[in-house]
Amino acid sequence: MSVRPGVIERYREFLPITEKTPLISLGEGSTPMVLSENIGPRLGCKALYFKLEGCNPTGSFKDRGMVLAVAKALEAGKRRIVCASTGNTSAAAAAYGARYGLETIVLVPSGEIALGKLAQAMAYGARILAVNGSFDDAMTTVIDIVDAIDAELVNSVNKYRIEGQKTGAFEIVEDLGDAPDMMCLPVGNAGNITAYWKGYKEAQTRGMARSLPRLMGFQAAGAAPIVLGKRVAHPETIATAIRIGNPASWKTAVEARDESGGLIDKVEDREIIDAYLMLARDEGIFCEPASAASVAGLLRLGELGVDVAGKTIVCILTGNGLKDPGTAEKRALVELEYVEPDLESVVNLLKKH
Ligand code: F0G
Repeated sequence: MSVRPGVIERYREFLPITEKTPLISLGEGSTPMVLSENIGPRLGCKALYFKLEGCNPTGSFKDRGMVLAVAKALEAGKRRIVCASTGNTSAAAAAYGARYGLETIVLVPSGEIALGKLAQAMAYGARILAVNGSFDDAMTTVIDIVDAIDAELVNSVNKYRIEGQKTGAFEIVEDLGDAPDMMCLPVGNAGNITAYWKGYKEAQTRGMARSLPRLMGFQAAGAAPIVLGKRVAHPETIATAIRIGNPASWKTAVEARDESGGLIDKVEDREIIDAYLMLARDEGIFCEPASAASVAGLLRLGELGVDVAGKTIVCILTGNGLKDPGTAEKRALVELEYVEPDLESVVNLLKKH
């Protein structure tokens, strides 16, 4: 439990829970919707909001779905959970697993996950299997082994993950009083776009929202199977969180795109890094590179023939920038300025620029 209700308690009537489902929480959900000070006005948007999913307890949106997947695993009497991950799912699984006494096993692509995420799984005490292959190889392996090791699979192919993640849409609708005109988000394994669309449709059915948003999903150009319409054998992008060549929720992501009148397009790594630094320097928001793909995509919408002027738009910033300190260190291009600890030295140094 947490003092403020987590997503299971807050949205219990919208979730598949029974009297036996434990109302567990690490304080996930209720994340800030921050109005853009600079990017939105430059684009002429009516209002541009950033939903800071990095403010969740393990620093990413994965906590919303993981809390429910773990609650259902506990309800079913499971002792062990397993997932494949580019890092954030494993951090969330490890945290909830640790808190509620489940053994957590995570399969990650060897050498390809951001340092902060690896540190989290280690600190929470998960067993970390570094797979000699990609995320897609790890995902296939997990599906192969799950029954043999008597574990609950907590990737987003677990329907409770999608159910939990749809609460992001409810929060947006409650904060705005209706759905936005458009919502931009990164697409990797494609669970989140699937979950948001389910959430918005339910919000409309239940009278919480009058309208539905257009969902604008963005893949990294080197890992864009949905855009290309075919699997990518060797996905490559600086945004390791979405370095995925064969998304598990491919079909439902395409449905979300088409039903919402939206699109799924790609953004180059260069555009991702530009948006990542723009968010940090123009908005004071430090998100991870994959998250910045949403804003990189927003900045491309004009080119794609989509008018953003006068629109209310939400960008989902899926994970905290601290997850991936290596990218900031390499890409922010700021040199440390070494100085003696006295007034004269500091003043003289500052005069130089
Ligand atoms: N943003 C971040 C920060 C992510 O970690 C992920 C996915 C996505 C976006 C894409 O979301 O998969 O629902 O389309 N991370 C997964 C993981 C794959 O293992 O942590 P998606």
